[in-house]
Amino acid sequence: MRNFRVIKDGMDVAALALAVAMEPSRWDADTFLRKYPQGPFGDTDTIMLRFPEIATGLTDEQIELYKQNLLPGYDQHESICWPAWDQLPQAHGFVFDLAQFTRATRIGRVMINRIKPGGRIFRHADTPEHVRYWRRFHLVLQGQPGAVIYCGEESDGSKDEAMQMLTGRLFWFANNLEHEVRNESSIDRISMVIDLHCPNGSASE
Ligand SMILES: [Fe+2]
Repeated sequence: MRNFRVIKDGMDVAALALAVAMEPSRWDADTFLRKYPQGPFGDTDTIMLRFPEIATGLTDEQIELYKQNLLPGYDQHESICWPAWDQLPQAHGFVFDLAQFTRATRIGRVMINRIKPGGRIFRHADTPEHVRYWRRFHLVLQGQPGAVIYCGEESDGSKDEAMQMLTGRLFWFANNLEHEVRNESSIDRISMVIDLHCPNGSASE
């Protein structure tokens, strides 16, 4: 595989998955991605553990500069800990261990995404400024065969690689390429995204 790299299967995610399951109201706290206009995330719920402060009241021009990380006073790469970070200490070890493993120098976004059975994250590539700086990892907290991530160079998906998102699987993937997720299993697919700045794994920095 070129676009995915499994770091480890069979990670013991039971304590974190249990903590997430026992407090379902957390899924209602952060609706930013789901409500994002025309975004690909309509079938997705998110618990933000670390994420940038949401900038509000910006003009279209300022938003464009923000996306390029050129808006004075804002660093889109600076994530802060949201309340769920403190509420889910079971997640911390996974984040810090992976940062150590990858020799990362900065921890970015950490969020737990849930896709309902039959749900999809529609095809997209992540923003260039983001993928230039960050490497993206997933730790699957709950996933059965049929929950599949696709990733490849061609926008029509003709060169996609596909990988099952199975419980306990920790992997990196090339989110600069086009990707999508289809949950064709009968249970929610729940996965924790971890973004790390890995200077030794980056062409540009
Ligand atoms: Fe993405």
